[in-house]
Amino acid sequence: MKEHKIEIPVKVYAYEELSLNDRTLVDKAKEMTYQSYAPYSHFSVGAAALLDNKVIITGSNQENAAYPSGICAERTTLFYAQAQYPDAAVQTLAIAARNESGHFTKSPCSPCGACRQVMLESQVRGGIPMRVLLYGSDYIYELACVEDLLPLCFTFADMKAEE
Ligand code: THU
Repeated sequence: MKEHKIEIPVKVYAYEELSLNDRTLVDKAKEMTYQSYAPYSHFSVGAAALLDNKVIITGSNQENAAYPSGICAERTTLFYAQAQYPDAAVQTLAIAARNESGHFTKSPCSPCGACRQVMLESQVRGGIPMRVLLYGSDYIYELACVEDLLPLCFTFADMKAEE
């Protein structure tokens, strides 16, 4: 038996340490939490994607009385970005959330499994690493690419015959 250890590098920032561009993106993700429709969970999530054509696309979670019909902020944002700019790659995706108290989460808001898989495919489509900024009011995580959120991930390439 052997053991493989998989380590994930995560950078931790205070808001003031972020570059101006990253602050702008995080601010937009935070703003988008106020446009969330979350009457059931009372958990308001916002996301902002910086595309390689310099456009910023934003989104929020949108819930529905038929619970599974709702969609997370990350997927709202990425699917809209892909629908509007199918040839653009996402350079950076920022995510922020407020909980039922109305306050932003203290620790970074982390995407759900389904969103991670969609983020991965969006990154593969774009052909460049998608940086991810996870906002928390106490500290912010930066991940260099989506695989860092989805170790041992499955992509279309895994279905191809190995050479
Ligand atoms: N949600 C997101 O929008 N993104 C995440 O990363 C986690 C969860 C939404 C889905 C649902 O509307 C609410 O937050 C509670 O799960």
